[in-house]
Amino acid sequence: MRKEHRAGLPRIVVTSELPGDALSLLMGRASVQVKRAKGLRSEAEVVRCLSVARGAVTLLTDPITEAVLAGCPALRVVSNVAVGLDNVDLAACARRGVVVTHTPDVLTESCADLTWALLLGAGRRVAEGDRFVRAGKYKGWRLDLLLGADFRNKILGIVGMGRIGQAVARRAAPFGFRVVYTQRTRLPQSVEAALGARFAPLDELLRTSDVVSLHCPLTAETRHLLSRQRLSMLKPSAILLNTARGPLVDEEALVEALGSGALFAAGLDVFEKEPRLAPGLKDLSNVLLLPHLGSASRETREEMARLAVRDCLAVVEGRPPRHPVGIIE
Ligand code: GLV
Repeated sequence: MRKEHRAGLPRIVVTSELPGDALSLLMGRASVQVKRAKGLRSEAEVVRCLSVARGAVTLLTDPITEAVLAGCPALRVVSNVAVGLDNVDLAACARRGVVVTHTPDVLTESCADLTWALLLGAGRRVAEGDRFVRAGKYKGWRLDLLLGADFRNKILGIVGMGRIGQAVARRAAPFGFRVVYTQRTRLPQSVEAALGARFAPLDELLRTSDVVSLHCPLTAETRHLLSRQRLSMLKPSAILLNTARGPLVDEEALVEALGSGALFAAGLDVFEKEPRLAPGLKDLSNVLLLPHLGSASRETREEMARLAVRDCLAVVEGRPPRHPVGIIE
């Protein structure tokens, strides 16, 4: 834990070390404590971190719940270094007048890039090929070695066509994909036309897509959106990608679908009980697994940290933040 307590300045607690120069924005303007994150924190540990803070710069692994807020009466702002906010009880924050901010936009392109890395990697069996070579199994070129999927004239189904979903869609045309999307509110026709994307209800999208990519927030409504029953709608040749949040998918049912051949492959950057994996998941060769790397490029993470710190400082200094969040239904 690093401390620089300066009397008279607002107290800001940063729950982990930040990449880049973000902390320098606070110099002389806040009394700053930087905590060291050693794995996941419980609510009680978050309370211990933030109990005297007026502003908090938090990670997506820090639970900001009603109980945590009750233990941190001085708290006025929670700035999450993430675009997703499922770790924050937004309704409880609103009730207590705690402003919540997040870091959209700066991570859109890096998350879309990583989605395509998973798409290409799972579809063309890149990690399996790497393991095959390293294991000394490559004994020469073969016509039938590790055959994967083609993408030309296939359908990419995007579930959640917000910023990241749209950035994923913009990358699809050069690969020859047609794009179908679903979300609660249909996009204006001009946006659909610019993206070359057609709207379809979720079940139709699942039944017809060759690749399904999830980009919606995790809420009470979207938890297990891909339930066992919905997973059974996917084509046996389909690829499922999740770079959004693990609990969108029933992971146990996904393991069964991948293991039984009911689904060709999956690419997962997030897990239902992160960082734990559902039993059997890591034993499957047709799933590509990444440790939540969506926004993990150096420039993006440094910019996310700067955004969060700037917004936290703005609120404790009585200015409007750039990226406040309302309640997500
Ligand atoms: C990462 O998952 C984020 O929400 O920024």
